Amino acid sequence: MANPLRDPRDTRMPLIAGPCAAVIFGVTGDLSRKKLLPAIYDLANRGLLPPGFGLVGFARRDWSDADFTQFAHDAVTAHARTPFRQEAWERLAEGFRFVSGSFAEDAGYDRLTDTLAALDTERGTGGNHAFYLSIPPSAFPLVCEKLSASGLAGGDGPGWSRVVIEKPFGHDLASAESLNGVLNAVFPESSVFRIDHYLGKETVQNLLALRFANQLFEPVWNANHIDHVQITMAEDIGLDGRAGYYDGIGAARDVIQNHLLQLLALTAMEEPVSFSPGALQTEKIKVLSAARLIEPLADNSARGQYTAGWQGGRPVVGLLAEDGFSATSTTETFAAIALEVNTRRWAGVPFYLRTGKRLGRRVTEIALVFKRAPHLPFDSLVDTDIGKNALVIRVQPDEGITLRFGSKVPGHLMEVRDVNMDFSYGAAFAEESPEAYERLILDMLLGEPSLFPVNREVELSWRILDPVLAHWAEADAAGGRPDPYQAGGWGPASAVAMLARTGREWRRP
Ligand code: BG6
Repeated sequence: MANPLRDPRDTRMPLIAGPCAAVIFGVTGDLSRKKLLPAIYDLANRGLLPPGFGLVGFARRDWSDADFTQFAHDAVTAHARTPFRQEAWERLAEGFRFVSGSFAEDAGYDRLTDTLAALDTERGTGGNHAFYLSIPPSAFPLVCEKLSASGLAGGDGPGWSRVVIEKPFGHDLASAESLNGVLNAVFPESSVFRIDHYLGKETVQNLLALRFANQLFEPVWNANHIDHVQITMAEDIGLDGRAGYYDGIGAARDVIQNHLLQLLALTAMEEPVSFSPGALQTEKIKVLSAARLIEPLADNSARGQYTAGWQGGRPVVGLLAEDGFSATSTTETFAAIALEVNTRRWAGVPFYLRTGKRLGRRVTEIALVFKRAPHLPFDSLVDTDIGKNALVIRVQPDEGITLRFGSKVPGHLMEVRDVNMDFSYGAAFAEESPEAYERLILDMLLGEPSLFPVNREVELSWRILDPVLAHWAEADAAGGRPDPYQAGGWGPASAVAMLARTGREWRRP
């Protein structure tokens, strides 16, 4: 639906959401407190929400609107990105309502229907409603069905209805297909917004600018020049307090299935015909359709589980000693896979993806490692390690781009050493990047779907990953376990061996 507040021809104007209300199911949870409520405040503070915006919290607690407002206030003061401004806060909080209810009982949905109808009248939200399901995936079918039965899922009214869901989008291809079936039975695909918060990150979007707004990079962005690609998402945090979500899920499902395969798709895809909705998805879908795990899986994958070690100058426990994990848990906290993308552009170029908890430091990067120069006329005077040119997109922290190339060391000898040329967001721009959730929530309210994976992308990602998950499950059934690695290190020895077999090595970010 066209946004009445914006002239669509003026691309310089910030986009402001049209009249609407959002409902957050599971509003008392961690995601809502740390990310969603702060992001909504930040949007309001930046003037990007409509004046009459309504926000309804839905949860089991027996709260009044005032209790909810106080909860949101605490969340915002603790976690918002932009400074707290009383005036902006008060204007936003006027539209706050709380509905107490369980996912199963009709009475809660009746109260929700009345609350939304009242907001439409009092604040002019126009029947436009977004339902954010910040709840366990097992509850998605029930809530969707109840929204449909209570007439809130849209159809007859004047406004739009959208549903927003967070991963995990299933735990394998079959369950993802069945989840998509449930969602699409109630909401048409164009009304389903699946959050992959990596797509909302500034640097991830800059990947598209880097590739398609410049002439410099695209000619070498292919198998003729690139030896391999490494996509790393390393975290230093452990899983203290997250057993409920993570045990039995593991690093591959938690991160590779979504964030890393999306980064791969954006890195490997062809130029979209435009940035109109759908064009980006078309290109990503082509890459995901062409991507396959490199076989044999025993040599081209690795999984690990952190053991006790040191991090940030203090001792930390291993996964099996974290609260909520059993002493026999085989949940992997590190996963690495190797993929090929069977297209003319990428034939023969391995894409190595890895992620892990309790690694040396928090860093996400995409590194395109170039082939060595075919001939080095320096022979004895070169550092043997030179010639590994790399273009590294530093997704976070320290967002930017690094170009690594060989350079002459000052002096009489023709000695060559690799050096870095850096672009850093912090140094180049005065503007601060919005949080991923700010962008994604705003895009959803605007009905702009480009940054949300569609059901086909989710299913293709599971199709890619399923064989390695099955391979690990088989190993478990035969008494196998993820390989141990010490907290604070860079993963298990099997991950090092995986690349060493091909004469390559992981970058040490
Ligand atoms: C989430 C994962 O999607 O991303 C978490 O479920 C992970 O396990 C988080 O910690 C990392 O997000 P970010 O934005 O801090 O890199």
